[in-house]
Amino acid sequence: MIHATLHQLKVFEATARHGSFTRAAEELYLTQPTVSIQVKQLTKAVGLPLFEQIGKRLYLTQAGQRLLDTCQQIFEGLDQFEMSVADLKGMKQGQLRLAVITTAKYFVPRLLGPFCQRYPGIDISLKVTNHQHIQERMANNEDDLYVISSPPDQPDLKTHPFLENPLVVIGPKDHPLVDKTNIPIQALNGEPFIMREPGSGTRQVVQERFAKNKVDVKVRLELGSNEAIKHAIAGGLGISVLSLHTIISEGTKGEFAILDVEGFPIPRHWYVAHLAGKQLSVVAETFLQYLLEESHDMAEKFLPGIGRAPKKTRRSLSKV
Ligand code: PGA
Repeated sequence: MIHATLHQLKVFEATARHGSFTRAAEELYLTQPTVSIQVKQLTKAVGLPLFEQIGKRLYLTQAGQRLLDTCQQIFEGLDQFEMSVADLKGMKQGQLRLAVITTAKYFVPRLLGPFCQRYPGIDISLKVTNHQHIQERMANNEDDLYVISSPPDQPDLKTHPFLENPLVVIGPKDHPLVDKTNIPIQALNGEPFIMREPGSGTRQVVQERFAKNKVDVKVRLELGSNEAIKHAIAGGLGISVLSLHTIISEGTKGEFAILDVEGFPIPRHWYVAHLAGKQLSVVAETFLQYLLEESHDMAEKFLPGIGRAPKKTRRSLSKV
């Protein structure tokens, strides 16, 4: 392996990620024969096959998988080194890989604006997806930081709560329960309901709450997007339970009303999290600190009514 080059490792990593020489070549602006020659030379250096070809797709062998893990560690180490050097030079520079849960898209991009202005050398890649997919990304160590609302038990995480994320019952403006107060949760029995998709954290919390209170709503529709659910509510298809963040821009002046059902809002929090064993890059630490220190002041401007996570659960970075 001593004769393997960094270039060969990069070519191998791209090939493994795509399962294809052609697609790796496209990504790296190389020709397909160049890619396959580089992989061949690397295979020779390793002394074992790295891929098996089945049909058109390449699959990693056991040795290939080990090499891919090693490559990822090497590239991550080099990225960290680059960022530390930039930090020593007095600059914050590098890439921040963020993955956030669906409802965080209502405020994370707004927090990113001032952050990017303050640190113009930081590039951000932002993935917005549901609870289950975030967990898969965690298992594959694909991101630096996660913004989530229900930290999973696995993998082992360090979590820092920073803002509230209440779940509320939302109905159309003309729903018969709109003007009622302290509506018993049983009043929702048989209500037409729009549910998030399996794998959604919101769905899990809602189902647990209904099961605990023996409430049986009539699920009319399952949708994988909070925005689609809002349109379905406005279209009179039923009520739903969503994060208050989802209607923060239009509030309850428009098409939606928050129903005052007992046991709601369900209090939850936003957490910024990272894998417990992960050495955070300078850039990731900078963003974590920024989120913990400044998100609340910024949230006050554009998320009225959303509070800070309780102090006793907030930890400053220095104590982590
Ligand atoms: P979800 O997560 O998008 O998976 O429903 C949101 C949440 O857990 O608050």
